[in-house]
Amino acid sequence: MKYIRKAIACLTAAAVLLLCGCGAVDPNNFFGSAQDNAPQKHKVIIDTDTGSDDAAALILAASSDKLDILGVTVLYGNVPTDNAADNALMTLEVCNVKVPVYIGADKPLKKERKEMVSVHGSDGMGDQDLIHPHSSAEKGDAVDFILDTIKSDPGNVEIIALGPLTNIALALKKDPDTMKLCKRIWVMGTPGFGDGNATPVAEFNVYSDAEAYDAVLRAELPMTVLGFDMAATEEARLTKDDMEILALGNEKGVFMSKAFSKLFAFNQESGQNMTLPDPMAVACLIWPDVVLETKACYGEVCTDDDDTYGQVILYQKGVVYEAMPEIGSYNLDVVTKIDADLFKYNFMSVMTD
Ligand code: BDR
Ligand code: CA
Repeated sequence: MKYIRKAIACLTAAAVLLLCGCGAVDPNNFFGSAQDNAPQKHKVIIDTDTGSDDAAALILAASSDKLDILGVTVLYGNVPTDNAADNALMTLEVCNVKVPVYIGADKPLKKERKEMVSVHGSDGMGDQDLIHPHSSAEKGDAVDFILDTIKSDPGNVEIIALGPLTNIALALKKDPDTMKLCKRIWVMGTPGFGDGNATPVAEFNVYSDAEAYDAVLRAELPMTVLGFDMAATEEARLTKDDMEILALGNEKGVFMSKAFSKLFAFNQESGQNMTLPDPMAVACLIWPDVVLETKACYGEVCTDDDDTYGQVILYQKGVVYEAMPEIGSYNLDVVTKIDADLFKYNFMSVMTD
C-alpha cells in the first residue's frame, strides 16, 4: 500500500525556507545537496546493538542506493551481543541483501552491562518469534573488521553508530592512527538539546557506556550526532494509524510492524507515539534534505558514578557561556533541525511501496 503524504504544504514551506537560506544547511557541507548530479555512494560500516529501531535503520540503509554497506558490526546494548547478531542477520535476509556481520563487544569498556528496561522486548524484536536467520556471523572480530576496512580505503569509510560506542572506542584504543582515517562517524546518541531517556539527563546509548563516548569525543574524529530530541519531534513519531499501515505494507513493513510491537506499546504506556531514533540517523545520510540545520558543538560526557552518568554537555559554537571551559576545537556537529514530515514520508514509503 502506498503511504499517502499528508503534509505537502509543510514541505513546500521547508523548500522555500531552504531556497531563502533561512536555517538551511550549507550546501557545501558533508550532507551534499540537491544540486549534486551523481553523488558518490557513502561507503559505510553500520555498528548496531540491533533492537527493533536498529533493524528498521538497517532496512532503510539496505534499501538505499546512496549507501554501499561494507559490513555490519554488532554489540551489546538493547540485547546481548549474540541476539544483536541474529537480529541483524535476520533483518538483512528480509531485505534480501548479503552483507557480512561481525560480532563485537559484549560489555562496556570499563563497567558491567547495565540492567535496563528492555523496551524492544526480550529478544529486541518484539518477542514475535521473528528471528530465525539462515546465515551466520563471520568468524572475525568486529573491531578488526572496522580497522581493516578503514585501512583498506583511507579517508573514504564512514561509520554509522546506532548503539553504545564501545566497538568504536576499542578500535580507537587498538589503532588510533587508523581511526583517524575514518571519513566521518554518524552517531545516534545523546539527548541533543532535549531530555534523556535512560535517566532525566542521559540517553540510552551514551548511558550504556559513557567511558566509550568519552574516548570517542576526545579522539576528535569528524562526527555528526543525531540526538534523541530530533526523534522525539511529534511529527516524526509513528502513530497507531501508521502501525496499521505498516502491517499492510511490503515484507519489510510487515516484519517491522511485528518487531515494533513492544516498543510501540512501551511508548503508548506513557501516552506517546513511537520514536525512530536509529532510522533517523540513517536518514541523515540517505535523505540529506531531512537535515535542515546542524550546529558545531564542543561535547563533554559525564563519567562520574552518580546521577549525571552519561550526561553530555554541549557547548554551541558562537554562543558565549559565562563559565566557559577552554575549548580547543569543536568536536562534533549536532543535528538541530529536521524535516520530520519528509523523514516519516520516506520511512513509510520504504516499508510500503
Ligand atoms: C537508542 O536507544 C536504543 O533503544 C535505540 O535503539 C536507540 O539506538 C535511543 O536512545
Ligand atoms: Ca540502537
